[in-house]
Amino acid sequence: MTASNRIVLSSDHSAIQLRQTIAAHIVAQGWEVADIGPTTPESTPYPKHGEAAARLVATGDCRFGIILCGTGQGIMMAANKVKGIRCGVCADTFSARMIRQHNDANMLSIGARVVGEGLALDIVDAFLTAQFERGRHAVRLEMIEELEKHRISVPV
Ligand code: RB5
Repeated sequence: MTASNRIVLSSDHSAIQLRQTIAAHIVAQGWEVADIGPTTPESTPYPKHGEAAARLVATGDCRFGIILCGTGQGIMMAANKVKGIRCGVCADTFSARMIRQHNDANMLSIGARVVGEGLALDIVDAFLTAQFERGRHAVRLEMIEELEKHRISVPV
């Protein structure tokens, strides 16, 4: 297995069961999974789990990251603070496909309190089977990279 076939999974306490279900689902498809936890149900802050997964994607150790919290929102926000990460929250398969095709997303976030297991697995499949379309979309990603380079701070 190489990094191009490896997916990192992480979550906070609210999504352990769904994360483990997703892990089994994608292992059955031939992906190698780095499930970095947590495994016990104590409350644990989503930013650290979002960051840990995002680091493995940003370094190239993993091709994709799939992260979960209650809504998918907080952990997505944390992951997107890591340079090179493009993570979207999806609660439908259309968005999951489009964030690959148009945004070349390298991470997917799912809200375990938002979607049921069946839909979550379909969202994962839509994300993992779609391909980035490049062309005009690549130009827009370069614009995002520019924003990242010159991170904007506004005076308060
Ligand atoms: C934890 O209770 C919850 O706030 C978290 O899982 C997530 O929904 C945050 O965005």
